[in-house]
Amino acid sequence: MLGPVLLAASRSDRMRKIVAAAPVTKPVVNRFVAGEQLDDAVGAVQDLDARGMEVTLDFLGEDITDPSEALRTRDNYLRLAEALKDAGLGPRAEMSVKLSAFGQALTGGHDIALANIRPVVEAAAAANTTVTLDMEDHTTVDSTLAILEELRREHPQTGAVVQSYLFRTEEDCHQLATSGSRVRLVKGAYKEPATVAFQDKREVDRAYVRCLKILMAGEGYPMIGSHDPRMIAITQEMARRFGRKLDEYEFQMLYGIRESEQERLVAEGHRMRVYVPYGTDWYGYFMRRLAERPANLAFFLRSLVSRG
Ligand code: FDA
Repeated sequence: MLGPVLLAASRSDRMRKIVAAAPVTKPVVNRFVAGEQLDDAVGAVQDLDARGMEVTLDFLGEDITDPSEALRTRDNYLRLAEALKDAGLGPRAEMSVKLSAFGQALTGGHDIALANIRPVVEAAAAANTTVTLDMEDHTTVDSTLAILEELRREHPQTGAVVQSYLFRTEEDCHQLATSGSRVRLVKGAYKEPATVAFQDKREVDRAYVRCLKILMAGEGYPMIGSHDPRMIAITQEMARRFGRKLDEYEFQMLYGIRESEQERLVAEGHRMRVYVPYGTDWYGYFMRRLAERPANLAFFLRSLVSRG
């Protein structure tokens, strides 16, 4: 029952101030976020690379309300692409972006976001890497997929994310399961109404498996974004069934979550990409992680009590 409350809190400015000011918050945040600076992000890529993992980097930020903040996001990603290029890490680390941080929710936001993201996609290509467009709440899906289509004209390796909790997603998977198309399948992390999304976790899981089947049977490159052991086992089974080799799909997990499982999959020869967030604007991301899993929330609450 706490999940929806935390998801609502993830978009509350008042809660943001309270949580950010609590002295115990920082060490807990550090479990899920690589650090505040670009150097921290590059360090995390080097560390994960040494352990056989690939990375997708997320410069934290979302729901911006001012065009200057969108430019700040763009410039931070341009610096990131430059740093990956200089360190020769492009082939090991791509970038994940939230278009709401590029201005998508501003008036005329679709065009603003497209104009701001385009140079980042170009810089990624110059650094020998690519960009994946994270998916946010359901009101943004049409715009995000239209921006994806536009970017893929020149940069077909640009990746998409689809969320199995949305009713529309099976159809989106059919559209996206084409040659060269990189698609990350996740369950979905936002609070969505019953008019557009499954509310029951078992329904979301069943939809995940249906979407997985479409992607694994299709011609694109599926990226399985889940920590769920059942989804991982089903993916492995489907890979066998559809004759996909180990380099024809990949697993993705979040930084700091199920690290031993990440290592186990690498040891089995799988491609494993870790989603590494960094930056100071960690609040929304952090609250969604707490909402997802009672154990994460319990960890946070225990540290509150032990400090108190
Ligand atoms: P879920 O939370 O349903 O848990 C299922 C089972 O997995 C649990 O019962 C447990 O067995 C195991 N498990 C989960 N977490 C565990 C833990 N911490 N320790 C031990 N076991 C654990 N969402 C979105 O809306 N837009 C996006 O763009 C993205 N992007 C994204 C990228 C990547 C790489 C990942 C992994 C996830 C996202 N997400 C996302 C988040 C996603 O939608 C979802 O909220 C979380 O991944 C949680 O769902 P899971 O499938 O991981 O398992």
